[in-house]
Amino acid sequence: MTDLPAHSPLAVRGLSVTYGDKPAVQAVDATFPRAALSAIIGPNGAGKSTFLKACLGIIPRLSGEVSIFGQPFAQARGRVAYVPQRASVDWDFPTTALEVVQMGQYRRAGLWGRLSGSARAQALDCLNRVGMADFATRQIGQLSGGQQQRVFLARALAQEADLYLLDEPFAGVDAATERAIVDVLRGLRAEGKSVIAVHHDLSTVEDYFDHVFLINQRAMAEGPVARAFTPDALHATYGGRLGLAAAPQTVQAAE
Ligand SMILES: Nc1ncnc2c1ncn2[C@@H]1O[C@H](COP(=O)(O)OP(=O)(O)O)[C@@H](O)[C@H]1O
Ligand SMILES: [Mg+2]
Repeated sequence: MTDLPAHSPLAVRGLSVTYGDKPAVQAVDATFPRAALSAIIGPNGAGKSTFLKACLGIIPRLSGEVSIFGQPFAQARGRVAYVPQRASVDWDFPTTALEVVQMGQYRRAGLWGRLSGSARAQALDCLNRVGMADFATRQIGQLSGGQQQRVFLARALAQEADLYLLDEPFAGVDAATERAIVDVLRGLRAEGKSVIAVHHDLSTVEDYFDHVFLINQRAMAEGPVARAFTPDALHATYGGRLGLAAAPQTVQAAE
């Protein structure tokens, strides 16, 4: 972790990932800020999910260094909560919403600790924070997509992590749920936690996020939203694929 900054919740240098011989992430450098909401932005297939999974050691990296609060993931794993992209989770397992949240307590509290009354109360509180307390005893498979998404966010909250990695937390949720999730994320930031979310709606980037990281296999731009989320950077990242309908105000104004 020689030159990687310990103050950053997530810093990577020279990260490359391939599937077989097909490159997915190439020589990426990135440094995310602490106590901030950061967005990872790029077109479909740009390597956003791959980037997160490689940072977490879920998939092997070809090369590069990853530092979480100045440590390798193996040493920092207790400080990290991850919510994968929804499509990648098996929704048929027979488990209630409350049990899903309590899985998040396992690492911290241990098996018996998480079965205690106070752990149950904490899990219910996490469900409450995402507006899902009324669904605690519902089977996860019987919830709508947006409700499932909120339960998995509640599980991440139950981990009481310092860094939250969220892969498309707003995909397929309704507007009210999106606002509820944004409020939760802002609450985390107010507590000094760091949030890094893959985000695909360019029109809300300036409202929701402090920092952006644009990727299309390679790192295209990075920095505070006001400085890095520019029409040029978006053009470099999306090329001709950036439809006007998806373009934020800043892009339209420049055209
Ligand atoms: N398990 C996998 N095996 C082979 N190729 C994959 C796998 N996962 C993703 N890819 C490919 O890697 C590229 C990046 O994928 P991904 O990280 O999911 O992109 P994003 O999340 O930005 O949409 C895509 O071309 C995708 O098809
Ligand atoms: Mg993805």
